[in-house]
Amino acid sequence: MLRNSKMEEKNSAEFRMVAKTMQGLEEVLGKELIRIGARDIEVHNRAVSFVGDKGTMYKANFLLRTALRILMPVTEFEANNEQEFYNGIMNIDWSQWIDEKNTIAVDCTLNTELFHHSFFMAQKCKDAVADQFRNKTGERPSVDKDQPDLRINVHITQNKVTVALDSSGSSLHKRGYRHDTGRAPLNEVLAAGMIQLTGWDGRLKLIDPMCGSATIPIEAAMFAANIPAGYFRDYYAFLKWRDFDSDLWEKITEGAINRINNNPVEIYGVEISSNTLKKGRENIRNAKVEDLIKTFCADFNTWDPPAGTGIVIMNPPYGERMDKDDITTFYKAIGDTLKKKYAGYSAWILSSNPEGFKSVGLKPTRRIHLYNGPLECRFMKFEMYGGSKRTKFQNPQQKEPS
Ligand SMILES: C[S@@+](CC[C@H](N)C(=O)[O-])C[C@H]1O[C@@H](n2cnc3c(N)ncnc32)[C@H](O)[C@@H]1O
Repeated sequence: MLRNSKMEEKNSAEFRMVAKTMQGLEEVLGKELIRIGARDIEVHNRAVSFVGDKGTMYKANFLLRTALRILMPVTEFEANNEQEFYNGIMNIDWSQWIDEKNTIAVDCTLNTELFHHSFFMAQKCKDAVADQFRNKTGERPSVDKDQPDLRINVHITQNKVTVALDSSGSSLHKRGYRHDTGRAPLNEVLAAGMIQLTGWDGRLKLIDPMCGSATIPIEAAMFAANIPAGYFRDYYAFLKWRDFDSDLWEKITEGAINRINNNPVEIYGVEISSNTLKKGRENIRNAKVEDLIKTFCADFNTWDPPAGTGIVIMNPPYGERMDKDDITTFYKAIGDTLKKKYAGYSAWILSSNPEGFKSVGLKPTRRIHLYNGPLECRFMKFEMYGGSKRTKFQNPQQKEPS
């Protein structure tokens, strides 16, 4: 009894955390954080900070679709040279989270003239942690760069060192359902963010007519059915921490899994390459959403979409390997097909190719600035009004009223 009440007291202690994300997804992430009960949300560049307790941290890792990592700040100190940095790391009691049998990794970013090599400072941090354990026990934690039990995040601005624990341990875009991909797959976090930016709520038909490895259809299906983002992921660093509360984690994951719904949803994935679609279909099966997504091996320009209204979200090839004439032809065909076959739909296109967008030949009603890895992109919305006779009634499935 005493143990439980003490445990509850510890678990309900609140602290500030930072959810890292991609540029352009900060507002969406802020809204997701509100939905999981986080407080005092502050939006930054590629990050959102928030206040919550240990349960909020578990929820953030398991539920957030647009977060890359959840950092838990530990301390800040000043360091003007390597020795002061080493001492500052040594002053943290690392046995609060792990013991010498666990594995560690260190990420370091620098914004300072005092230190020059982030790799070297990460090494220095790792040495300090290792030395602390070796001095006490004669043994030291080993390094695991991929799935460590404790990932330490060090950020140095001038002489200010901020140390945080990366509770996720590896990027949360690694959902666990995608093993094989086509060329240039979208990051899952970016796909989830794009879907939420469109305002789609699962009720309209959603079509990805160039779906590749099916990232957009899968993220849309998981979003609509309320399948937790981390449902298929079995690794988070905090699971190995000394203060890990398995009862609390079980309660949170079970509660979320019970909220998965069976709402009807219509999602379509179309892909011209049978080889790529094979991989997409396998990912759809891995994510257990095959009942929610219909796939077609077809050319977007000849495939007939279901009649009525809906939303198109697409990530066409950006054309890095095409010459200018090919880009113009390719994107013009996209615009023509949208006009001809998608009256009543709204279409969202992600591309880094400004020439391509020009060739689409439609006026965007929204433009959102996003990054796909290092590539600066626009995510543009085009309304395919059903109003003009030309666009509305070129679709043979729709009859002109008498
Ligand atoms: C940038 S990739 C899409 C990646 C995808 N979002 C993912 O996460 O894997 C573009 C895809 O469009 C497909 N594609 C190109 N032209 C097409 C067309 N006319 N119809 C359908 N798919 C097409 C390519 O084969 C490629 O898989």
